[in-house]
Amino acid sequence: MYRTTPPVIRREDYRPAEFLIDQADLRFELDAGQTLVEAELSLRRNPAAPRGDGDLHLDGEQLELLDLTLDGRRLPPAEYRVDEHALVVRRVPDRFRLRTRVQIHPSANTALEGLYVSGDMLCTQCEAEGFRRITYFLDRPDVMSRYRVTLVADPARYPVLLSNGNPAGTEELADGRRLARWDDPFPKPSYLFAVVAGDLALVEDRFVTASGREIPLRIFVEPGNRDKCDHAMRSLKAAMRWDETRYGREYDLDLFMIVAVSHFNMGAMENKGLNVFNDKFVLARPDTATDADFAHIEGVVAHEYFHNWTGNRITCRDWFQLSLKEGFTVYRDQEFSADQGSRGVKRIEDVRLLRSRQFPEDAGPMAHPVRPDSYIEINNFYTATVYEKGAELVRMQAGLLGPERFRKGTDLYFERFDGQAVTTDDFVACMEQAGGLDLTQFRRWYAQAGTPVLECADHYDADAGTYTLEIRQHTPATPGQADKQPLHIPFAVGLLDAQGRDLPLRLAGESAASEPTAAGVCTRMLELRAPVERFTFVGLAARPVPSLLRGFSAPVRLRYPYSDADLTFLMAHDSDGFNRWDAAQTLAQRLLLRMVEEEALSVPDSFVEAFRQALKEAPVDASADTQADPALLAEVLTLPSEGYLADQMDCVDVDGIHRARETLAATLGALLREDLLAVYERHWQPGAEAGDYDLSPAAAGRRALRNCVLGYLGQAPDAGIVALAQRQFDTANNMTDVIAALRVLLEMPVDVAGDAGERALAAFYRRWSQEQLVLDKWFALQAQSSRPDTLARVKGLMKHPQFSLANPNRVRALIGAFASGNPLRFHAEDGAGYGFLADRILELDPLNPQIAARLLHPMTRWRRYDPGRQALMQRQLERILEVDGLSSDVYEVVSRSLG
Ligand code: ARG
Ligand code: ZN
Repeated sequence: MYRTTPPVIRREDYRPAEFLIDQADLRFELDAGQTLVEAELSLRRNPAAPRGDGDLHLDGEQLELLDLTLDGRRLPPAEYRVDEHALVVRRVPDRFRLRTRVQIHPSANTALEGLYVSGDMLCTQCEAEGFRRITYFLDRPDVMSRYRVTLVADPARYPVLLSNGNPAGTEELADGRRLARWDDPFPKPSYLFAVVAGDLALVEDRFVTASGREIPLRIFVEPGNRDKCDHAMRSLKAAMRWDETRYGREYDLDLFMIVAVSHFNMGAMENKGLNVFNDKFVLARPDTATDADFAHIEGVVAHEYFHNWTGNRITCRDWFQLSLKEGFTVYRDQEFSADQGSRGVKRIEDVRLLRSRQFPEDAGPMAHPVRPDSYIEINNFYTATVYEKGAELVRMQAGLLGPERFRKGTDLYFERFDGQAVTTDDFVACMEQAGGLDLTQFRRWYAQAGTPVLECADHYDADAGTYTLEIRQHTPATPGQADKQPLHIPFAVGLLDAQGRDLPLRLAGESAASEPTAAGVCTRMLELRAPVERFTFVGLAARPVPSLLRGFSAPVRLRYPYSDADLTFLMAHDSDGFNRWDAAQTLAQRLLLRMVEEEALSVPDSFVEAFRQALKEAPVDASADTQADPALLAEVLTLPSEGYLADQMDCVDVDGIHRARETLAATLGALLREDLLAVYERHWQPGAEAGDYDLSPAAAGRRALRNCVLGYLGQAPDAGIVALAQRQFDTANNMTDVIAALRVLLEMPVDVAGDAGERALAAFYRRWSQEQLVLDKWFALQAQSSRPDTLARVKGLMKHPQFSLANPNRVRALIGAFASGNPLRFHAEDGAGYGFLADRILELDPLNPQIAARLLHPMTRWRRYDPGRQALMQRQLERILEVDGLSSDVYEVVSRSLG
């Protein structure tokens, strides 16, 4: 058994800090082996906090204390104490200066928290609690300090020396080392601190702010990657402009910097003036990155930039408030991306992610409210719930207020709380005040975990011409929250007539109907508050078809007994693009779940015809700007994922789901062969080979459609299809088309395709073996293969010279892609996948607990499987829990899963 259980941190225990640190002067003597950190802190008692025992408790981990002085006096051992987590200085005055000197070891830091080595550079990651691995400090977000930083290093190894804020001069020291000073005028919490040192290449541009200030923009990358920064730079400038026009937020420092690092636990980090990125969210060239990669880069660059106001200028009081900055910033980056490309497609992608990641989380053992009540390890709470559901809560408030009042609300928020560390409640209070509405009940969304279920029923009264919708809400119990209160839910609806047009809407008691817009849209935002709500629409000559939860107006599971004919009708006619897509998804989901149950079930003609019809509407001219947006069509034609289908079943049938999806895709591929080929050829861009690659959303949409169609054709392959995929693989000039063709070639059976897949894979490796981010794709493709020998192959790849447990991107590409992206092979009946994952987690935990805990996730939902698999997963989880000295990260996830 584990020896000690790590302590639980509770939101209700929050107390203001007893001391504040107004000024932090830090001096680093940087070296990979050992770095000296000298900190001079100006401390004073916090007037807002009650007096404690008079001792100062500073956080600190894995630090070697070399020296300690208070107001210039070296402290004798009797006046302080050091343990694994803290430095306690006894009986300190009300106001004083404390100087510490510590030694740390970046090259031994495999957890990638604090100061660590990535390739040849040194960099930091401090959120959430990494700063305490750099120096003794009050490492909590409600302590905001002004930082002045001095960096000293050997200029041969570390010619570039960066920290937050504005540059304040450099010096050459007599011993040959270089010194650089940085000064950040904005008080900030320690989690936003950053240092980078290395031999870095620079890409520079500039941005003129709304008030006319010229800001240099600098992207630093490893030498050799300078040609992959254009897209990140373009995205950054677009984000800066967007924040000015949409939120009135201008950049505040004299300089903005991004550094791309190859070893990074998460996506990126919004350190003040010095964002540090996982390089996969910076580096892109059309031949190395897919359209999806380009879109992610745009979104993450914007996300981190937007944090400058939502996170940095206004930060979180404590980590329970994480969604204050993350939920709002995700909402902001979603809206930004929607404005750059297709709003409809962006909403579909965001909801797909919410449903495939957040809904299962909210229904499993790790379920927690957007504002959690307790945690053991805060790093485990950077979740889809805090981020994506948190964004949905902001989106709902924006919807309830409408654009003008929402902007008033955010203006008020920025004005009232600038420079402060606040709570999600403070945010809601601003929306409430600016919107002039009561959000008391709405606040429950922050406190209550679980995905609400809406059961809808309706009744049409032909004599009265009335149509009544009845909506019941309930939220299932989640761990620690048995009883749920009803929520305030914005519920957008439209009603369609027999021709598929939006009807004017008039509720009983209203004097006039709201009429459809010029675009033919008539949507009404109903507000649900009670457990059961009824709404009666009047003046209806015939029974309408309801279009419910338009635009996915709330993060809920909707149940309404649509007939297949209704869904086909909505798929063809709904004025709400999101609901057209959702109708198609529901139709496919139903059919697939029926096919899982009845193995022999054949695909109904009506389904094939609905697909044929959708394909017919594909634009004839690839460049024509028609309503049948190819990107949207590609979304409509994409079947629900295996993971999403699993979430719909009480007991997940892993093999059945895979078989049903394959059968359906193969049937469509065979029956619709001519239609699919026609769409494929129409969208094949001969120019593509010539090099005039087009990054526009329209062109990306055409590639998405063509590759979706190729996927279906690949499910019913013959020599012609093999040749088609081979031609695409050989001649495409961009990674989107190359990887799509490679995936298809790899999945085709050997008796049709021979060794075409293996040859293509080998060619891909030869071409890209030195390009780390592309190599990640090579690892991931193999890990996700449905071939029966995939686990053996993954094990073999662990020994590949280019595999390393020390690189999180590589670990995610191989082990993560297998465990989370290949349900068929990971959940193999013999449990070999589970044993493999548990072994890897035990190997990784001592090195990098954050990554180890994240890899665990596919096993946390063990209760959803058949008894055999349950027992096998449970055994592995128990085996992990028995290990001595587990990290708090892994301990918390495993113990909650078993609990
Ligand atoms: N704040 C970062 C973001 O932009 C994420 C940092 C996550 N860090 C962690 N240790 N979990 O979303
Ligand atoms: Zn963020």
